Amino acid sequence: MQKDTYLLDSVPEIQFYLVEITTACQLRCPGCKRTTERGKKNWSSNFMPLEKVKRVIDNMPPSNHVIFSGFGEVTLHPNLPDILSYANKSGKFRIIQINTNGLINDIDYFRMLIDCGLNYLMISVDSLDQKILDASRTGTKAKHLETVLRGMADFRIPVIASITVSKTNLDDLPNTLRRLNEIGKFTVGIREAGDLGLPDVMLDADDRVRLAKHLVSVMPLDNLRVDPPKSMMVQREVCVDPWNRPGINIKGELTPCCWTNDGSILGHLDITSMTYEDAWFEQGHQNWLNGFREAYPENPCSGCPRNPNLWSSFWTGKDFVLYRTLK
Ligand SMILES: C[S@@+](CC[C@H](N)C(=O)[O-])C[C@H]1O[C@@H](n2cnc3c(N)ncnc32)[C@H](O)[C@@H]1O
Ligand code: SF4
Ligand code: SF4
Repeated sequence: MQKDTYLLDSVPEIQFYLVEITTACQLRCPGCKRTTERGKKNWSSNFMPLEKVKRVIDNMPPSNHVIFSGFGEVTLHPNLPDILSYANKSGKFRIIQINTNGLINDIDYFRMLIDCGLNYLMISVDSLDQKILDASRTGTKAKHLETVLRGMADFRIPVIASITVSKTNLDDLPNTLRRLNEIGKFTVGIREAGDLGLPDVMLDADDRVRLAKHLVSVMPLDNLRVDPPKSMMVQREVCVDPWNRPGINIKGELTPCCWTNDGSILGHLDITSMTYEDAWFEQGHQNWLNGFREAYPENPCSGCPRNPNLWSSFWTGKDFVLYRTLK
């Protein structure tokens, strides 16, 4: 097909976008890109300046939902309250979310963030067992995490307890869910660890069967609403993130999704100096989308747990038969 006969994708409605406002963190979770890249001396810890965050918000279209996060800990950002206030006053969002490890500040700090406009909070839990936390969320004190969760259980905004399941915490999952249920009402988002530099702890097909068994063994729990991981919810799904859920990295560059903060993938489209609409119609961006339709590209999709090609035979082969015979 000739280039000029390509039908360009019109600018789609964004479901949510994630802005990486920091790459600094106090924890050393072994599976996180920040930790693995730091190990290779390939990381710098930065904060997106407030003025830059404001320009990103100005240059992006209104969207249902914005997430301030990144391969870093947002509550370390000195201007987080101002960022949330600006997002709130812009009137562009229904949902204003942060993703946090929750361990830097006391509960009053989060109440102050709610006053600034925060209305949705995701806190990473993974486990409440100190030994497992040492291995998967290195630097986390179990008692502290539990105290924070008790405080958050009374918040008037939705609090999502996020569990990233790897071989390290898989068999502790029923225990984690029971303990969360004792603490209070939470929505629990379970997702699989992907490959951000530590592939050995990713779940294999047998582990996915164990994950299903663990969930069946412990649910329902009165206080919890559990969202299972993608690999358990659908048979085959096409990833729509590059259309509906883009990311903005620490430099202000557009990325196809929040699994990656690599701005080179889309040719370093700087949203602090151009609108999203202009970035969308850049030929390189459109070419990348057309390529994505043909096949998931190695970068960034090869280790991503949302890439259906990684879901092995769970739904299609013998594992599925096993799953159906669960008691
Ligand atoms: C990168 S952190 C940033 C926010 C905050 N520092 C936190 O830990 O919640 C966001 C989420 O990514 C998850 N994560 C880290 N490494 C991962 C991996 N290899 N695969 C999937 N999720 C991962 C963490 O468990 C956390 O819930
Ligand atoms: S707390 Fe979040 S950003 Fe920090 S190392 Fe852990 S997963 Fe990465
Ligand atoms: S499958 Fe690819 S585009 Fe979709 S979320 Fe994963 S890395 Fe991003």
